[in-house]
Amino acid sequence: MTFARVIIFSLFTLLAFTGFANLVPQVQGDPPVEEKIDAGSLDMAGMVSFGERLFSGKGTCTLCHNNLGRAPDLLEMDLAKAFPERLTDARYAGIAKGKTGAKAVENYIIESLKDPSKYVVAGFGKKGSSDSISPMPKVDAAPIELTNIEMNAVTAFLQDRAGLTPTVSLPSAEEASAASKSEDDEDEAEPVKTGVAAIEKYGCATCHDLEGSEGDLGPKLNGIGNKMSDAKLVEAIVKPNAEIAEGYEADTMPDDFGEQMRVSELNLIVEYLKKLPE
Ligand code: HEC
Ligand code: HEC
Repeated sequence: MTFARVIIFSLFTLLAFTGFANLVPQVQGDPPVEEKIDAGSLDMAGMVSFGERLFSGKGTCTLCHNNLGRAPDLLEMDLAKAFPERLTDARYAGIAKGKTGAKAVENYIIESLKDPSKYVVAGFGKKGSSDSISPMPKVDAAPIELTNIEMNAVTAFLQDRAGLTPTVSLPSAEEASAASKSEDDEDEAEPVKTGVAAIEKYGCATCHDLEGSEGDLGPKLNGIGNKMSDAKLVEAIVKPNAEIAEGYEADTMPDDFGEQMRVSELNLIVEYLKKLPE
């Protein structure tokens, strides 16, 4: 063991005895106040800001699309240039309409959300698939389940971010009001009550095969309770880079769950993982 690992190991042994509470320091502060969408104001500017919230919130896009290299960094890349190029690439297997301009970018994004394998960016495909299968989950299906309006909003946000004028169609007043109602129902600030709800809240199933999600950016967690102690499970969740599961790379699993989770949620997740059958 290297010196650093001895330290980390001792730290976690210590924490295991003092309880999980110390690991999750941010739980006491006031929860962030989330701005709600106003049904009457879903004009294009409203769609862009709704899309921005979905991108890091319900959409869980930032779990993978960030600057750590696990997926293309959508917020930094020049999509206005890159996406039209994808559409004319020999490997492109989709049916998105148009080859140039903002509308083609919209169509490519929407197709990527519903059927990510239509074009797999080189180097990012599922292991062993020679870049023919995308590890990205279909976002209109469980566990992410964005609605059409939400996918349009995310698309408008990405177009706006890339300096394009968003081309998505705006929702009717009725659709906008339904969307704002569903956002109200989803109170992110409330701690969840069950393990399943906690893994849903933190997007674990987009990368791990949990609750039938077939996520496979991370290892299968079946029977993990036989292999890891409670303290090791906590470590794997709040300090994923302390030890890397064999065959996987560091920096793939987000390392800030410890800052976001409540102690009760972390405990629920550990209990949930321990019960997963082999
Ligand atoms: C579990 C990880 C993961 C999540 C969650 C995820 N993606 Fe992806 N996404 C990827 C990977 C990996 C690729 C690259 C492989 C490919 O081309 O499909 C990708 C590709 C894409 C592309 C095509 C990029 C290109 O350069 O051609 C778009 C657009 C995209 N994602 C949008 C999104 C949006 C928007 C969300 C949230 C609603 C999202 N993704 C959620 C992993 C993810
Ligand atoms: C963006 C993808 C991603 C997300 C989201 C994610 N993980 Fe992981 N996870 C990984 C990868 C990749 C590994 C293997 C590399 C490592 O050990 O850090 C891993 C490793 C693990 C391990 C250790 C498994 C072993 O066999 O050593 C556990 C436990 C785990 N994750 C639980 C969770 C839980 C619980 C959540 C949600 C709170 C979560 N993960 C969210 C990608 C992810």
